[in-house]
Amino acid sequence: MHTSRTVWRIDRAGSLDRLRRADERLPPPAPGEVQVAVHAVGLNFADAFACLGLYSATPAGPFVPGLEAAGVVSAVGPPLADRPAHAIGDRVVVLTRFGGYATALNIDTRYLAPVPDGWTFEQAAAWPVQALTAWYGLVELGAVGAGDVVLVQSAAGGVGLQALAILARLGADAVAIVGGEPKVRFLVEHCGLAPKRIVVRGGRDFPARLDGALADCGRSGFDAVFDAVMGPGFRPSFARLAPEGRYVLYGAADFMPSGVSRGWARLAWQWLTRPRLDPLAMISDNRAFFGFNLIWLWESVERVPAAYAALAALELPPPHVGQRHPFDEARRALDELKGGRTIGKSVLVVDPPTGR
Ligand SMILES: NC(=O)c1ccc[n+]([C@@H]2O[C@H](COP(=O)([O-])OP(=O)(O)OC[C@H]3O[C@@H](n4cnc5c(N)ncnc54)[C@H](OP(=O)(O)O)[C@@H]3O)[C@@H](O)[C@H]2O)c1
Repeated sequence: MHTSRTVWRIDRAGSLDRLRRADERLPPPAPGEVQVAVHAVGLNFADAFACLGLYSATPAGPFVPGLEAAGVVSAVGPPLADRPAHAIGDRVVVLTRFGGYATALNIDTRYLAPVPDGWTFEQAAAWPVQALTAWYGLVELGAVGAGDVVLVQSAAGGVGLQALAILARLGADAVAIVGGEPKVRFLVEHCGLAPKRIVVRGGRDFPARLDGALADCGRSGFDAVFDAVMGPGFRPSFARLAPEGRYVLYGAADFMPSGVSRGWARLAWQWLTRPRLDPLAMISDNRAFFGFNLIWLWESVERVPAAYAALAALELPPPHVGQRHPFDEARRALDELKGGRTIGKSVLVVDPPTGR
C-alpha cells in the first residue's frame, strides 16, 4: 500500500503554465475501492482543454487532470457486494473522471477492466477513453454497418486510429482526413489505407478532394461522418452526407488555442461564426446529426461494465502508442499533444511504477 504519491495538479484552469507537480498523502482505499500503482497514464486532447478551462466538465477549483491510466492493484479496500472484486497484483485499466495524472490512485472497482492479455501497460493506458469514444460514436450513435463509407476526421490521432480499427472490424470503408503529409504516410504504411482515400484538410480544393475520395469508393455521399475538429471542413463534410447519413460531432479541436492560454479574441470569433444547421432541412434531406461527450459514462458508472464488454467483443488490436514521455514531463507532453502533430496516442510512463 502506498501512503504518498506524486500528482500533476492545476490550482485554477486557464493556462497550461499553472500545471504543477506535487507530492501528497494518499489515504487507504475506501469501501468498494482499490489502490492502483500507476505504470502509465493516457493523455487526451480533452486534458489540454480542461487545463485551459475550455472543457464543460472541468472542475471549478484545483484539480488533477487525467481520464485514464493502467497499473497494478496495490491495496484493496473493504469489499462491497455490488462491486467487482479485485486482488493485489491484478493488472488493471482505469477510467477516472479527472485525477489520472498520478503515480498512485484509489478508484471505485466498477471503473476497472483487466489489461488485455499480451498488452503493455502503455497500450492499456492508451485504450479506454479513445476506444470507448470511437465505439460510442460509430456503433451506438452512428449505427455504422458493413459496406458503409465513413469519413473520419483527425484519422491518425488517438480516437481516429481507434475509429479506423473499429470500421475495419465492422466491414465499413473509411475516408481519412488528416492535418499533414507525415500523417498520410503513417496511414498508408501502418494502416494500409489507400492514398486516394486520405485527404489533407484545408485549401480551396478540399471539397473537390473529398469528392475524389468518395468517387474512389464508388459513392457520392458518406453514410456517416465522425468529426471532432469542427473547423472549415465541417460544412463541406456535412454537405456530402448521403440520404440517411449520420453526422457525429464529438469535439472542436479547431478551437484549441495555439499558445499556453486561451486567446479570447480568436475563440470569440470562432464561437460567433460557428456553423448552424436547420433541423427542418434534416427531415426533408433524411440526414441526422448527433453530438456527445463521453463524460456521461463516468456519471453512469453502472453502465461502464457493459461498455467495456461491448468494446472487448470487437477484439480490437492494441492501440498505437506514438509518443512516450516520462511522468515528470507531463506539461511538455500535453503541450506537444495540443500542437496537433502527434500520431496515435501519447502516454506518460511512471518509472519506477511504485507510487512515491
Ligand atoms: N466527446 C468526447 O467524449 C470525446 C472523447 C475523447 C476525445 N474527444 C475529442 O476527440 C478529438 C481527438 O482526441 P484525441 O485525444 O484522440 O486527440 P488526437 O486526435 O490524438 O489529437 C488532436 C488532433 O486534432 C487535430 N486538430 C485539428 N485542429 C487542431 C488545432 N487547431 N490544434 C491542434 N490540433 C488540431 C490534429 O489532427 P489533424 O491535424 O490530423 O486533424 C490533432 O492531432 C479531440 O477533439 C477531443 O477533444 C471527444
